[in-house]
Amino acid sequence: MQKEYAVQMAASNLRFGAGVTKEVGMDCVDLGLKRVAVFTDQNLRPLQPVRLVIEALKREGVEFEIYDEVRVEPTDLSIQAAISFAQAGNFDGYIAVGGGSVIDTTKAANLYASYPDDFYAYINAPIGLGKPVPGPVRPLIAIPTTAGTGSETTGVAIMDLTERHAKSGIAHRYLKPILGLVDPENTRSMPPVIAAASGLDVLCHAVESYTAIPFTDRPRPERPIMRPAYQGNNPISDIWSLKAIELTAQNIVKAYKNPDDDEARFNMILASSMAGMGFGNAGVHLCHGMSYPVSGMVKSYQPDDINVDHPIIPHGMSVILNAPAVFRFTGVACPERHLKAAEVLGADITSVNDIKAEAGSLLADQIIKIMQQLDVPNGLSAVGYTDDDIPALVAGTLPQHRVTKLSPRPADADDLELLFKDAMVAW
Ligand SMILES: NC(=O)c1ccc[n+]([C@@H]2O[C@H](COP(=O)([O-])OP(=O)(O)OC[C@H]3O[C@@H](n4cnc5c(N)ncnc54)[C@H](O)[C@@H]3O)[C@@H](O)[C@H]2O)c1
Repeated sequence: MQKEYAVQMAASNLRFGAGVTKEVGMDCVDLGLKRVAVFTDQNLRPLQPVRLVIEALKREGVEFEIYDEVRVEPTDLSIQAAISFAQAGNFDGYIAVGGGSVIDTTKAANLYASYPDDFYAYINAPIGLGKPVPGPVRPLIAIPTTAGTGSETTGVAIMDLTERHAKSGIAHRYLKPILGLVDPENTRSMPPVIAAASGLDVLCHAVESYTAIPFTDRPRPERPIMRPAYQGNNPISDIWSLKAIELTAQNIVKAYKNPDDDEARFNMILASSMAGMGFGNAGVHLCHGMSYPVSGMVKSYQPDDINVDHPIIPHGMSVILNAPAVFRFTGVACPERHLKAAEVLGADITSVNDIKAEAGSLLADQIIKIMQQLDVPNGLSAVGYTDDDIPALVAGTLPQHRVTKLSPRPADADDLELLFKDAMVAW
């Protein structure tokens, strides 16, 4: 096997600033979009971000239809409904106003409306066929309302596959939004549990991409087009990932405790897009790989302060609950990177004697301190899981090759069993 020697940075086109949402009508005109679909969810439909988009489109005379049936944590069924809407509408382009659920649903609807195919055709292998997106899709402008998934920067759309009780998705550069309007005013109304969960998703994107395998450890592709978006840690992603860790460390608790702290909210949505540019080119690994069955197999957990009609473990929560166990496990594989991440998160590293033995635990302890300040449940057992669920959680993680193979320390079924056992109680 020839090892990889190159890395490709797929840049994102983003505009940051308080109030940029109001510019979306002009952007549509400048892009030549005469008739667009506005995707959102029912909680966001009456709120300011969507109101501002509607006003902006009317002001510029852009014709639009609203689709507000996006499911929070999209499923194959909810995505198929969105695809039908998109296929029937003959739109020139799309605007997604919402969190990752909305942006990802819009990406998938846009893809299948542009290139209709069997539903599993584009879903990542081995769950789907992993067929590459055949060509450019219609323009999509993403307006995130969480800080967040970074979905405005990535070519990834994630969904729950209902019958398989696991998440998978579609990943291709052509799915990347043509423009992200990153407006900190849009995150002011996030419920506290979502401010916490989505902020912890940022943290995991940044730390996982920074600790992923080096890009030079992957096999070299035969053709440049076959080089995946998730390439492993690399000098360009490192810059975004480390800065995102730093901004998150400084702002996540402030933004959670006081949604009117403009500076903290700005820095968190900035961190979210920065982490997106990091992980969008490097990838994430075990925290995310293990999160897919954790959210897919949810039993009855439903946080009080979000308005959804089904049990849900918010995405970032399903990720962070695995994080302490994961970094304790991966620390030995690249201790310098774990130590650096812990230090940027505020850990005192001066008393470390044996970096290989201590770095992973130091990082895990620092993450736990943040989880505690954000009132995160104490481990998987606090969101309804028991040891009896571990075999199914392991089985749901094993097919997530796209991310798990980026772990700096390979994890087989026995390792995953121990990791889920460790993740049952975090502190
Ligand atoms: N595409 C990617 O690169 C990527 C990366 C990470 C996660 N994801 C996916 O994104 C989804 C999670 O997205 P998320 O964490 O952004 O949350 P979300 O979109 O699922 O929204 C969570 C809840 O918050 C509400 N909400 C969002 N913004 C709000 C606001 N400003 N005011 C009031 N309520 C608001 C929503 O209505 C919903 O009830 C998951 O499906 C996850 O797998 C995608």
